[in-house]
Amino acid sequence: MPTILSGIQPTGRPHLGNYFGAIRHHIAATAEPGEHFYFIADYHALTSSRDPAGLRANVVDVAATYLALGLDPERAVLFRQSDVPEVTEITWLLACVTGMGLLERAHSFKDKLAHGLKPNVGLFTYPILMAADILAYDSDFVPVGRDQVQHLEMAQDMAGYFNSAFGEVFKRPEPRLPESEREAKVPGLDGQKMSKSYGNDLWIFAEGKELKSRINQVVTDSRAPEEPKDPSGLVLFELLSLFLDPAEQAHWAERLRRGGPGAPGYGHLKARLAEAMDAAFQPARQRRRELLADRGELERVLTRGAERARSRARAVRDRALSACGLR
Ligand code: ADP
Ligand code: TRP
Repeated sequence: MPTILSGIQPTGRPHLGNYFGAIRHHIAATAEPGEHFYFIADYHALTSSRDPAGLRANVVDVAATYLALGLDPERAVLFRQSDVPEVTEITWLLACVTGMGLLERAHSFKDKLAHGLKPNVGLFTYPILMAADILAYDSDFVPVGRDQVQHLEMAQDMAGYFNSAFGEVFKRPEPRLPESEREAKVPGLDGQKMSKSYGNDLWIFAEGKELKSRINQVVTDSRAPEEPKDPSGLVLFELLSLFLDPAEQAHWAERLRRGGPGAPGYGHLKARLAEAMDAAFQPARQRRRELLADRGELERVLTRGAERARSRARAVRDRALSACGLR
């Protein structure tokens, strides 16, 4: 049976990009035969967090988000990365076979430099920790958004470096991308990739005034409703389409393309988007509130998840230690 694993950083409230690019596929995958591991990458978050209370709250929020959206903790192991210290041990073993050049080529690292961030060593070695996350559980498939593919390829490389030095220890993982291009790269309110770090994100559980005001910030232009428009270039249409069935998508696309009297304006698209988000997330919002009001269930899930994850990671760590002569 294959092992399917993925992680998400607790760096802020999960947004529509995280949902359509990752979370929704994580939850859907648990229906497939296999063993499923999903974790909250709190060690990764520490490369940027300097706010202990905020980090703690975000970890709980990510766990509540997955459970509220329907992740069944019996079918999938949900855990905190830092509850599995074997992962940091494997990180060191991989660091010792990985060249600096590989890390220097990481797009996400280079992007952060380009945005003026002063990198710490943790940020530089982030892909090694991520490789250890994956290799520690003998993962076969790793569902992620497009921006993580290079990190996945690095994990494959690192498994290869270690295995060619010390014998077959690590299993080679494969990335798994959302099939729909639209889901693999969800645009943010400003039209760039949606990301917490760009401040252009839309929280999946936003509601009421907050939801309306965020949706109002989606970029539009001054063209009148009657003017025919190419729907594929409209951020609002891209976001709305994520929620619509193909028939309704085609209907909106056609009315936008045709233009003329009665064609929908940006206000119509915004109202439909708010309505669609309410319909999609209302039950989960309620469930999230309940989970956060009584943390007992959440803590039980994470504690049990950590035990199950550790017993896997321990076996892989032991294999790796003996292979390289540390046992
Ligand atoms: P952020 O960029 O907001 O910090 P993360 O890097 O924590 O998001 O991403 C968590 C998961 O969500 C990853 O698998 C990533 O590929 C996916 N993801 C993030 N942003 C998007 C997006 N705009 N479109 C599709 N998937 C995304
Ligand atoms: N780097 C990933 C992200 O920002 C999160 C992550 C950490 C991850 N470790 C992982 C994803 C292992 C998949 C597998 O989204």
